[in-house]
Order: sequence, then C-alpha cells, then structure tokens
Amino acid sequence: AITVDPGAAGPEIADTMYGVFFEDINRAADGGLYAELVQNRSFEYSTADNRSYTPLTAWTVDGSAKTLDDDGRLNARNRTYLALDGGSSVTNAGYNTGIAVEEGKAYDFSVWARAGAGATLTVALGDAGGELARARRVTARGGWAKYTARLTAARTGTDGRLTVSADRPAALDMVSLIPRDTYKGHGLREDLARRIAALRPGFVRFPGGCLVNTGSMEGYDEASGWQRTRAYQWKDTVGPVEQRATNANFWGYNQSYGLGYYEYFQFAEDVGAMPLPVVPALVTGCGQNRAVDDEALLERHIQDTLDLVEFANGPVTSEWGAKRARMGHPRPFGLTHLAVGNEENLPNEFFARFERFRAALAARYPDITVVSNSGPDDSGPTFDTAWRLNREADVDMVDEHYYNSPQWFLQNNDRYDTYDRNGPKVFLGEYASQGNTFKNALSEAAFMTGLERNADVVKLASYAPLLANEDYVQWRPDLIWFNNRASWNSANYEVQKLFMRNTGDRVVPSSATATPSVSGPITGAVGLSTWATSAAYDDVEVTGADGTRLLADDFSGDASRWTHTGGGSWSVRDGQYVQGDETAENTMVSAGDPAWHDYDLHVKATKKAGK
Ligand code: AHR
Repeated sequence: AITVDPGAAGPEIADTMYGVFFEDINRAADGGLYAELVQNRSFEYSTADNRSYTPLTAWTVDGSAKTLDDDGRLNARNRTYLALDGGSSVTNAGYNTGIAVEEGKAYDFSVWARAGAGATLTVALGDAGGELARARRVTARGGWAKYTARLTAARTGTDGRLTVSADRPAALDMVSLIPRDTYKGHGLREDLARRIAALRPGFVRFPGGCLVNTGSMEGYDEASGWQRTRAYQWKDTVGPVEQRATNANFWGYNQSYGLGYYEYFQFAEDVGAMPLPVVPALVTGCGQNRAVDDEALLERHIQDTLDLVEFANGPVTSEWGAKRARMGHPRPFGLTHLAVGNEENLPNEFFARFERFRAALAARYPDITVVSNSGPDDSGPTFDTAWRLNREADVDMVDEHYYNSPQWFLQNNDRYDTYDRNGPKVFLGEYASQGNTFKNALSEAAFMTGLERNADVVKLASYAPLLANEDYVQWRPDLIWFNNRASWNSANYEVQKLFMRNTGDRVVPSSATATPSVSGPITGAVGLSTWATSAAYDDVEVTGADGTRLLADDFSGDASRWTHTGGGSWSVRDGQYVQGDETAENTMVSAGDPAWHDYDLHVKATKKAGK
C-alpha cells in the first residue's frame, strides 16, 4: 500500500536538478558533437600520443607532400603543416566511414594556405560513385591566409572524401569542412545537439571526467615553446580555432579543441542549462593516482580558475571578459557553479589543493558554488575520508560517481535517506547502471525516485557518459549513440528525459509497505568496473558457484590497461565474465531472472597495502 500525504511539505526540487555530463570520450567531440567533418584537420596527430597516429592519419597523398614542424608553421600552437608539391593533392577520409553529406545541403570549406600569389587550390568532395559536390577553386594571395568556399551536396553520401589539390607548391593547415546548418548556428552537429536539448537539461557539466586532470599538469608555455599536455586547460581551448592547441586526450585520441570552453558555455546557454565546468586539481585520479607538488604550477592553475570566472562572467572591460566579447558573446554566461577536480583517489592530497582553489574563489567570487568530490568510489575508506574532509570544512557541494549493477541501483534507492541534512549537498555528477537495456533504464528510474525524494540533499544529478560514436567506443553504456550519418537514443535516455522534462516543484511525502525487495548474488560484481578497484586491489578473481574461474586479473600493473579498453560494462555470457560486450548486457538482469542465478559470483581480491 502507498500512503501519500499531500498536505505535508517535502523538499523543493530545483529546476536544475537533472542535467547532462559531456565528456570527450568515445569521440564525443571531434567526429561527434563538434560538427567538423575533416579528421586531423591541422596535421597534429602524433605518434607520441597514440602509436597508430602520424601527422598524416586520415589523409592520403596523391603525388608528393610532407608534413613539417618548422619555423614556417602557421603559429606557435598549430605546429605541423603540410607542404604539398605543385600538381599534388591530399585527401581526407573523415570519421567512421567517411564524410557524410545530404543532398541540397551546404558545407563550408576553409583552409589556411601559404602559396605563391596566383597559385590555385581546388577543393573537391567525392565518393566511389563520383562527385558529391561541384569542385571549387580559390586563388592564393601569397603568405599564410585563410581561404573559404561553399560546397553544396548534389546527392546524399556517407563515405565522402575531401580532396585539396594545388597547381603550384602550397603549405596547408586547418583544412576544414563544416555543415552550414549547425545547432543554432554555433558549430555543433544538429541531430546530437537536438537530442541533448530535448532532454531540457538543468545543467551541463563539462569537459570531464578523467580527461580533466589526468596526466601531466603542464600546458602551453610561452617561454619554453609548445609542450603537449593531457590535463585539460581551458585557456588552450578559446580564441580563434587556428590558434588553439590540440591535445592528447586521456581516452587515447587527439582532441582538436574546436569544441572548447566558449562553445561549451554557448551550448549550455543554447539548451537553457546552467554551465558547470570542472577544472584540474593537480592530483591525478583515474588509475594514475599522483599528487603534483609544484607551488608555482598550483598558483597558475588557481589563477587560471579565477580567470575562467572572469571569462564567463566578467565585464567586457576586463581582460577575459573582453576575450569572451571578441568571440561573439559580450553578455556574461552567468556561471554560478564550478567544480575543482574529478575522482581523485588521494583524498588528503586532493583536499589540500581543493582548499587553495576554494579560498581564492571565495575571496574574489564569494557567490560561486565550489564543488568538491568524494573520489571514485560509492563507499569505502577513500570515500569516507573524502566525505569527512568535505564535511569538516563545510564544503558547499560534493560530487559523487558510481557505475554499478542494476541490482545495486534497486537496492540503494534509500542511499540518501540518511545523509546529513545539514552537511554538504550532493552533486551526483556521474552514474549509470551497467548496460543500455530496458532493465538498466528501469533500475535507474527506480533509483532516481530516491534522488528526488532527497532533493534537499541531492541538488544535481547527471547520467554518464552522454555520447558514444559506435566506431570508437572506450566506455559503455552511454546515453546517446551515433555514427557519421545517424544518432539514436538509449532506453536510459528515455528515463532521463522523463525525469528532466517532468521535474516537480516539491516532493510530496509518501510511504509504501510491502515494497518489493531485491537481493541476489549480483552484488558480488559491483565495483569491479571502477577505477578504484584497479587501483586498490591486486589479484582479483571472480568465480562462479561451481568454482569456474570467470575472471582473473592482476591489477597491480598498468591500471589503464583495462580501464581504457573496458569501460563500465561488465557482464556474464555463456558462463564467461566479459567486459564491454554490448550483446551480453541483457544478462545483467534483475535478481529474479533465472539466467542470472546460474552465476553465483564470488569475488576474491587482495587489497593493496595502504588502500
Ligand atoms: O564517465 C566515464 C568516466 O567515468 C569519467 O571520465 C570518470 O570521471 C569516471 O570514472
């Protein structure tokens, strides 16, 4: 029986409660939400970042050309360029099967080129069937200059190739093809942006995730010249695109930063959501646990964070407000929340640094809510330490993350019922049950009723990850899937949409008796897919009831070995415990399903010293 007390005043539910978390994982940005159709447009792919990369990745040369990184470059950040011999051409293969175009639609080509005055560059778009759009010609003026041309697709194609040829020697960089129609004209792929907008998200958390603060914390340095970085530093991502850095992405590929901080703020505004950026905290998480001890670097990062607030909110007369205005947005973006750090597994080291950021922000921008986090686990010693530190310091809001089984979500509906009503608020920045099936979505819906019931404690919540390009998957499940020509929603998306578009004003207290309880051995698998497990345990072994060895691994080595490739999806199929297998997700079922009960999992693991 369910008893509802309509007269009682439950907690208020903020319109911003349910949002989205965008991270450039699964090629969500380049080849995804960022509408650029040319892959490796600035020839910056590097073997140092990914062993399969060269500056000519995604390009083929007909005739003679070489990539150069010398004083003739376009600018200090855009290092490598292509020197094409006269009479030669270079062709780009795009993403997935190629460049997708739609009959009758216009596509804006641009290129930075250095060629003798009068040289002719020809741009052509074609596929195996011939021409996709009528070729265009531009005439060089001498010296580096930007040339543009508009191509109109004569027919629809998904395997297009873009070819640039030169009649005389020419240096090329920033070869670009972008559909004229992008979401609200702001450079984002329409179908994907529309799917996100249709959720009516209350906030957009960006840009990560693990990609925020993992790896080296150094970045572009005027004095020493270019230095590649893996930590995401917002200043690398703003200004004219040809002057932005590119970066080795934590998820194993190059990111162009064409989708940068300005575009993130713009997108949040376009979908009516509150922007919620995450800045690096100088402690690496995500399996690489290391605290950076460098006072000067810490001070620079803190200053960068203050500058970020100025970029978002400052008047056009301020240094960074003026940069925002020059990019086309004189009005402030209205930043109110900012997170420092993501999933740091060293709570004491993280918190010491977090406090420095928080103090600097409080002194200059006391109205900004500074969000801390509780590390990568949903419970346990690291989580407890992080929460204790956050509570003792009276932090405003703490970011929690967890990727667990559907059973876990069903069993933990009451998770927040016992949270301290006077302590820090919760930002559930990342969560998902491990699969994209209806059952997963249902378990998330059930769990979300618990979030909503506790809306006085849980202030913000976002499913993760948001996007996945089906041909470049690092992590599954994901909310929205796509390739170069189409996109589709998961069942989980429909649940998010249901909650986001029907957010109430206030909780109406209710109670239920005989609520179905769920129990089962599946909880044995919980946590195996988290970074924390890889970092904290050695010799993990999972066996079935009959002693069959389903999974064994020694996570003492390079944790990224499996965190990179596996993602969050673990499931059982044909008696095998498999990782990241979409077809097996149906076996991650509720405890009532007999198929699941065949697998009475037992987990044995040795905790690493000090964890
Ligand atoms: O959402 C995918 C990853 O999961 C995020 O980058 C990280 O924060 C978490 O571990």
